[in-house]
Amino acid sequence: MTYQAHFRVWRGEADGELQDYTVEVNEGEVVLDIIHRLQATQAPDMAVRWNCKAGKCGSCSAEVNGHPRLLCMTRMSIFAEDETITVTPMRAFPLIKDLVNDVSYNYVKAREVRAFTPPDLEPGEYRMQQVDVERSQEFRKCIECFLCQDTCHVIRDHEENKENFSGPRFLMRVAELEMHPLDEARNRPEEARGDHGLGMCNITKCCTEVCPEHIHITDNALIPLKERLADRRYDPLLKLFRR
Ligand code: SF4
Ligand code: F3S
Ligand code: FES
Repeated sequence: MTYQAHFRVWRGEADGELQDYTVEVNEGEVVLDIIHRLQATQAPDMAVRWNCKAGKCGSCSAEVNGHPRLLCMTRMSIFAEDETITVTPMRAFPLIKDLVNDVSYNYVKAREVRAFTPPDLEPGEYRMQQVDVERSQEFRKCIECFLCQDTCHVIRDHEENKENFSGPRFLMRVAELEMHPLDEARNRPEEARGDHGLGMCNITKCCTEVCPEHIHITDNALIPLKERLADRRYDPLLKLFRR
């Protein structure tokens, strides 16, 4: 079944504007298909970043009707045929052109997370327990689409926070390392607070809601990290020991 949809797509740089298009939609298509059809028929210079068209490369992140989404995983069938569909770039990062953002903030934050620090062990000297493998397994599903970063109000609405806040994706990376039994950098929760702004997260869970990999970022990474920080800082026995 084919119909004509009404699309509004951001064109240009930060001072650009929304442009209206009427474009063909066929059964089974996703929003990225429609953007490609616009490129092929009406707007050959429309910039969009994509790679896998399978929800795995994390490149096609944008906002559809104001919701952060992967364009290749957003089915046209979730919209009414007479609905206007507005496609805009991510709001939390500088715009390069049309639907393409400069996401280098995320790479800067990634480099600031201290690397895994393994102990000096010979092969076979340590047997990893299954429970330790499973604890952080879900965090490794991250495709680095940065939709959680785009959504988190701490940076989305406050550019000035970017310097001190690494965002849910990289706090989750710190949590993953903290949960690794062989990581020798034992002050990860303190680093999360001091270097990555863990205290600025007020557990709104918006990051978790938009994650296309359905990772429980808040419940399984950020809250445990906050609890471990609280244990270390305020445990009366540890306090005595530190003195
Ligand atoms: Fe994307 Fe989820 Fe990874 Fe965030 S945690 S970058 S939303 S896959
Ligand atoms: Fe932001 Fe997620 Fe915390 S949206 S405030 S990092 S729970
Ligand atoms: Fe790879 Fe959408 S094109 S996630």
